[in-house]
Amino acid sequence: MLYIGIDLGTSAVKLLLMDGEGKIRNIVSREYPIYFPNPGWSEQKPEDWYEQTMIGIRELLADADKSQVAGISFGGQMHGLVILDEKDNVIRPALLWNDGRTYEECDYLNNVIGKEKLSEYTANISFTGFTAPKILWVKNKEPENFARIAKIMLPKDYIAYRLTGVHCTDVSDASGMLIFDVKNRRWSKEMCEICGITEDQLATCYESYESVGCVLPDIADQLGIPHTVKVAAGAGDNAAAAVGTGTVGDGMCNISLGTSGTIFISSRKFGVDKYNALHSFAHADGSYHLMGCMLSAASCNKWWMDDIIGTKDYAAEQKAIEKLGENHVYFLPYLMGERSPHNNPNARGTFIGMTMDTTRADMTQAVLEGVAFALRDSFEVAKSLGIQIERTKICGGGAKSPLWKKMIANILNLKVDVIESEEGPSLGGAMLAAVACGEYASVEEAAAKIVKVVDTVEPDPVLVAKYDERYAQFKEIYPACKPLFEIIK
Ligand code: XUL
Repeated sequence: MLYIGIDLGTSAVKLLLMDGEGKIRNIVSREYPIYFPNPGWSEQKPEDWYEQTMIGIRELLADADKSQVAGISFGGQMHGLVILDEKDNVIRPALLWNDGRTYEECDYLNNVIGKEKLSEYTANISFTGFTAPKILWVKNKEPENFARIAKIMLPKDYIAYRLTGVHCTDVSDASGMLIFDVKNRRWSKEMCEICGITEDQLATCYESYESVGCVLPDIADQLGIPHTVKVAAGAGDNAAAAVGTGTVGDGMCNISLGTSGTIFISSRKFGVDKYNALHSFAHADGSYHLMGCMLSAASCNKWWMDDIIGTKDYAAEQKAIEKLGENHVYFLPYLMGERSPHNNPNARGTFIGMTMDTTRADMTQAVLEGVAFALRDSFEVAKSLGIQIERTKICGGGAKSPLWKKMIANILNLKVDVIESEEGPSLGGAMLAAVACGEYASVEEAAAKIVKVVDTVEPDPVLVAKYDERYAQFKEIYPACKPLFEIIK
């Protein structure tokens, strides 16, 4: 049988076709625009997602035996607010995970409702990108739109709805809404009240590997696939990536270098970081995870390469980087503000330390290192909780760079296991579909049978020591700049 994994990302939807043995048969990608209507705002049109997903599925299946397609599932950009009216029409463009406009609503949630209460109800505190402050923003700033809301959905769930007619979500993605009682895997009545919504405005919440229904007959006919194709609820992109990299069970780690950068630690037990610097979310395998999320990771390198120095040849630029652990230039990667661990929408990208002999390669190196240092910030929080991690998987566009993997291994002092396919969320989505269709008994079984480690990047003690010194300096830069970020708005 064949399974389709749909990774509804920020720059593109990536679709992957997997067979029952876990072999990848085809991959396609379709881009759509992102809109920044005001500084710090970030929006997309759900209709664009749907259109490109449908075109993508047709392309994906062009040479496949369509009668063999059995299941579809997702990894999706998290936290985005999609609002539908009574007739299921989209009310306004979706507010995305990296949108920073809700600082007043966040302030209200964290300081008037209070972090303790939020943490008690949802296991998390408010960050500007989370969904609850966005609902409050619509309530406060666009009351006429708020009054029309019949359903509140997350990005991938809108696609599931268009394919099946079912308003559904899954536990991992719901966790990032700040309306979900993560520990008990159900909606939080208290948070619904705080946001001024009712539970029937929310979607039905499933485990990620559960089937929510079949593809609607007319959609199946349009795609040429059987009417029996099941759609599984799927997962937020990080949980789906964790499935796709075999980061399931207890104490496993995955780093994703996509538009965002995340460090994801799976855990069989529910747990909350007492500082709430890391997110405490449900995992797609039926358990839990802790996660640090930086808002700009591979996107910093893309910005630096494409927009600033004007090249598409990333590999050639990285070839010129010779001296690891000795760079005097530092880069704070806060191009969209920062989530973990600083929770500061006003933070900004910053180069510091240049001298007349600084080269283009030093600056490129600083960008790559800055992202790795910022990931270490979240990793240090995990370590301070007593979590011991020695190795990690890695996925996302940035994981294609051998140099970046080497920096991650040495800056975080972790063994980096390179897997056969770095596809992450789309592969995880296909695996969740396969579990929903009974091809595998559990997500853990699917991961054990499908995911293969092909190489390991070992940290080098000499480089680790050099980078420890560099990290000690990096850590000083954000606190020193923080008061400036309040001024240079
Ligand atoms: C996670 C997060 C991002 C998005 C990116 O909390 O906001 O990783 O899911 O797609």
